[in-house]
Amino acid sequence: MCGIIGHVGTGNALETLLTGLENLEYRGYDSAGVAVQNGSGIAVQKRSGKVEELKESIRDAHLEGCVGIGHTRWSTHGPPTDTNAHPHTDETTDVAVVHNGIIENYAELREWLCTRGHEFTSDTDTEVIPHLIQYYLDEGSESEAAFRRAIDELEGSYAVTAMISGEHVLYAARKGSPLVVGVEDDEFFLASDVPAFLEYTDSVVYLEDGDVVIVDDGGVEFTDLEGNPVTRDPETVDWDPEQAGKGGYDHFMLKEIHEQPTSLAQAVEGRIDPENGRIALENFESGTFEGVESVQLVACGTSYHAALYGSLALNQAGIRSKALLANEYSVSAPPVDDDTLVVAVTQSGETADTLNALRRAARAGARTLTVTNVVGSTAAREADDALFIRAGPEIGVAATKTFSSQVVMLTLLAQRIADDCLGAPPADLEMLLPELARLPGTIETVLEQSDAAAVASRFQECQSYFFIGRGLGYPVALEGALKFKEITYEHAEGFASGELKHGPLALVTPETPVFAIFTGQEDEKTLKNAEEAQTRGAPVVAVCPDDHRAVDIADAHLKIPETDADISGLLANVQLQLVSYHAADLLDRPIDKPRNLAKSVTVE
Ligand code: G6P
Repeated sequence: MCGIIGHVGTGNALETLLTGLENLEYRGYDSAGVAVQNGSGIAVQKRSGKVEELKESIRDAHLEGCVGIGHTRWSTHGPPTDTNAHPHTDETTDVAVVHNGIIENYAELREWLCTRGHEFTSDTDTEVIPHLIQYYLDEGSESEAAFRRAIDELEGSYAVTAMISGEHVLYAARKGSPLVVGVEDDEFFLASDVPAFLEYTDSVVYLEDGDVVIVDDGGVEFTDLEGNPVTRDPETVDWDPEQAGKGGYDHFMLKEIHEQPTSLAQAVEGRIDPENGRIALENFESGTFEGVESVQLVACGTSYHAALYGSLALNQAGIRSKALLANEYSVSAPPVDDDTLVVAVTQSGETADTLNALRRAARAGARTLTVTNVVGSTAAREADDALFIRAGPEIGVAATKTFSSQVVMLTLLAQRIADDCLGAPPADLEMLLPELARLPGTIETVLEQSDAAAVASRFQECQSYFFIGRGLGYPVALEGALKFKEITYEHAEGFASGELKHGPLALVTPETPVFAIFTGQEDEKTLKNAEEAQTRGAPVVAVCPDDHRAVDIADAHLKIPETDADISGLLANVQLQLVSYHAADLLDRPIDKPRNLAKSVTVE
């Protein structure tokens, strides 16, 4: 949700800023802009549209200087126009600011500033920040003090980076929205997320809420809002820039679908011991979860589907569990106590809805755990414990490899919790672990042999796309439909197989293909449900192994190898990811950046 980049160094900042913005575009792509200290003041260039369009517009602008800031936006206040694009400045362009988050009291601040003669040009909440800084500068404050005083006035969430005309300094603050610092010799970077500057450094400092940093040629000063020094140690990230590039694929999404054999091998590495039927989860020694009576999983979007998968796995392993939409949690949270484990499932670790649910659970006395891809993310730091899915950077807005890694992580977690709480390892572990060890190879087979492109093409002209599954196939059906609608813009719905007859059958026609997922759990019933749709004219696409009975009745077949029912849904999911991808490609959709969406949503 909005990407921020800042650079202080010895070379020209512009290239670093534009590379950073391109790397951050997954966070928003409504509009983009940069501001650079060009020797005679601050030069700003911004416009609606993608970074590519900003780059075009910049060709003739004089934007040379070694200090600068940049922003790619996902609109919250005001439409994505040139004027509403960041950076925002005061009237004299003495101060330029980029911001991610929401300033809740912006209306009062704006009114207060207007009565003191300030004139605003945009609809954004952000514009109050440069005006406030300018106000305090005019009052006689030094630059740093003016920045701190302005930040002190803000209510809501923010990651803010500001620069003041004539200074080789960036001022930044964080509260509730992510901000990281990158350091490489005498080059310094500020960004919403690490991929922004991975080309330049892997040494990263994750800021915490309440931090204010001052970056100049001499280095980075870490303080709290009052100016007291705080210690923030650099960490080395193990993502490399190549991982964050497209690597010869047409789209990040396709590359990330194809990375699943690797990401899943990383997810289980050192965590499963198939020979002895054991699971080892880093710091979670045997007995860690003893006393846990119930598990609530909170998440949004694709992560919610992984959470649902995890909760079904827990229930099937004998542990009371429920998956809840994080954005509903504040009004409908089931009671918790210190025997409740609340698991936040979030790829980015920064989703505002999920963070709120996590905080609410912690306040209510629950034990908390985050399952995430991002070491150093807010959710990882705020929860009592964290488990990392190790999927590597995911840039495509539509989540793919992180979903499969979350599912695997939660499958392992479910087994460990059941083992600790029920006093005996669940019976099927000896079947499951070897299949998990084989999973990367099995997924490779699906990728190599998939007929998804042909299926997508065959049903290209249809009206609506339905996805059905039962048990662990149900979250996969929901995820299949979400992926399809996100990137094709076609109507798609996921249902529990048994629900079709309770309403949705009314929509079924020859124009509504039904993708039926067979995971080995009550497949006979799912087959019956698929046939009920087929009888009413719907073509059925069976996602199942070759020798499955569904193949005989299906109009089309997406083949998956036989595996343990606990993870068979993951194979079906890969086929559905590919169907969505190819359907979107045929429609020439902007697959990696679907309209109106953003990868990381840091507002409620
Ligand atoms: C956004 C993205 C989704 C994602 C959801 C949760 O809506 O567009 O793809 O599933 O946020 O993100 P998280 O980082 O918490 O998994």
